[in-house]
Amino acid sequence: MAEKGRLQHEWAKSHMQILTLAISNMKKSKPLQNIALGICLQITKETSVLLIGLKELGAKLICCGGNPLTTQDDIAAFLESQGIEIFAWSNQTKSEYDWCQDQVIQFKPNIITDDGGDLHIKAHKVKLKILGGTEETTTGITRYKSMQKQGKLQYPIISVNDAKTKTLFDNQYGTGQSTIDGFLQAMNLLFASKRIVVAGYGWLGKGVAKKCQGMGAKCIITEVDPIKALEAHMDGFEVMPMSQAAKIGDIFITCTGMRDIITKNHLLSMKDGAVVGNVGHFDVEIDAKFLLSQKTRQVRPNLDECILPNRKKIYLVSKGRVANLIASQGHPPEIMALSFSNQLYSILYILKNYKKLKPQIYPVPQQIDNQIAQDALDSEKLRIDKLSKKQLAYQSRW
Ligand SMILES: NC(=O)c1ccc[n+]([C@@H]2O[C@H](COP(=O)([O-])OP(=O)(O)OC[C@H]3O[C@@H](n4cnc5c(N)ncnc54)[C@H](O)[C@@H]3O)[C@@H](O)[C@H]2O)c1
Repeated sequence: MAEKGRLQHEWAKSHMQILTLAISNMKKSKPLQNIALGICLQITKETSVLLIGLKELGAKLICCGGNPLTTQDDIAAFLESQGIEIFAWSNQTKSEYDWCQDQVIQFKPNIITDDGGDLHIKAHKVKLKILGGTEETTTGITRYKSMQKQGKLQYPIISVNDAKTKTLFDNQYGTGQSTIDGFLQAMNLLFASKRIVVAGYGWLGKGVAKKCQGMGAKCIITEVDPIKALEAHMDGFEVMPMSQAAKIGDIFITCTGMRDIITKNHLLSMKDGAVVGNVGHFDVEIDAKFLLSQKTRQVRPNLDECILPNRKKIYLVSKGRVANLIASQGHPPEIMALSFSNQLYSILYILKNYKKLKPQIYPVPQQIDNQIAQDALDSEKLRIDKLSKKQLAYQSRW
């Protein structure tokens, strides 16, 4: 499988210019020499570009996957062939997934990079001495915010997720595109004319709804935040509670990071043939347990038909787990170049500044965020205007 993985890696690398350029500029000075990095990320072709880059900068690496189902095995095989210690394979059980994370912890990393929080939380339980960490996704940050509030955070964590060059592009455009791809691969049904219910109008929901709308679907948004709901309304979407949407939707996509979005009662009230799937981080948004305890059969890869007691057939995508990473291959490389440049610079920032940092959540420094956007514009040969001296003076005259 390693050779297949290599081809995937090379394809991704050729579309991640800003990351590969940053790495090649620093290669000689090896800023990560002898630093032990514990990495928990989705093992995809794009991640392989980051991991090999970190190794080229001198880091000692040990990696596991960010989800039991999403590892792309050819990429894991390729990474291993490149001398990267990797504990990840697709379709893991919960205990295998835990065991892989334990291997990373036993390596006693100096810095941890996580996607979702499982590894950081494990590191807290065994009280490892860590210089600092980074976090890739909204759900991870939500978990650390709660730990910070309780005074339980033991080391600084940089919220890569909240960098503008991450959230705006990865969560919105990346998930937007890969979600459509995942659902299409799973169902191969027409989007145009369908009523698609998108739960949550945060970064993910907005990206998914806009792409569905662009394909001719009629989108309905469910929300709990009045501001986001109003935004969805002004963006031209129908807004209603899930109890109402459940009865009329054809396809349901949960994007909230919250539990119990589509419950047993919602499922029972759905139309015969409705399709439900999730792209939030954990598989807690849809009552997949209820669906999979019914009479089920797999009708296509990543699509289970579940016959409910009321005889209606409901179709579940990727068993309610992150559909864009399981039924599709996750975000495209151009998007991950932005996210992983944030990861790279944040790791270097921790290394330089850990003595000054407290055990709390920090944003990615604005200068890094701006630089990544500028690098991305440069890589596309796009030029923008600069404020003149007169404009700068006008701006600060108050
Ligand atoms: N699949 C992926 O590739 C991918 C990528 C990035 C983030 N994520 C994950 O997706 C989830 C959402 O991320 P985000 O960045 O969009 O977060 P966000 O905070 O911007 O948006 C979440 C939205 O869900 C809404 N919401 C919460 N409870 C709700 C409920 N009961 N009903 C309806 N809406 C509700 C919130 O009000 C909010 O607007 C997180 O779990 C995040 O980790 C997944």
